[in-house]
Amino acid sequence: MIAAVISVESFVGAAGAAPKETPESGFVWKDGAEVYAKVCAFCHEANVGPTIRGRGLDPTYITFIVRHGNRAMPAFRTAEIDDESLAKVAEYVSKAAGNR
Ligand code: HEC
Repeated sequence: MIAAVISVESFVGAAGAAPKETPESGFVWKDGAEVYAKVCAFCHEANVGPTIRGRGLDPTYITFIVRHGNRAMPAFRTAEIDDESLAKVAEYVSKAAGNR
């Protein structure tokens, strides 16, 4: 019985030490364009939110709005968009050309 417990523990230990391809959080956004396409476009390309690309909006302003929200614009936490990805999407939105 004791031997069985030890072998289960060593199995778990070995599995835990195995290399992983993704970081502990399990998910990372590829780049700013991906965050925009999969999150922001849901509203900002659907006439729910105003056009934000092609307006040269300040990345600091975009970051603030995304973290804090503004009326119908929801706030996103770091669990949804990590700081690094938020910086990338803010940069992307600021520099991207508009649709028209
Ligand atoms: C659920 C819909 C929704 C999603 C998803 C969403 N937004 Fe918004 N956003 C809005 C709405 C609606 C407004 C307008 C809020 C108002 O002024 O009342 C807005 C406003 C903004 C503004 C201010 C625009 C201005 O004219 O000053 C910025 C910047 C912005 N959103 C960025 C983003 C970014 C970046 C993302 C993706 C990370 C995102 N939003 C995702 C709905 C959304």
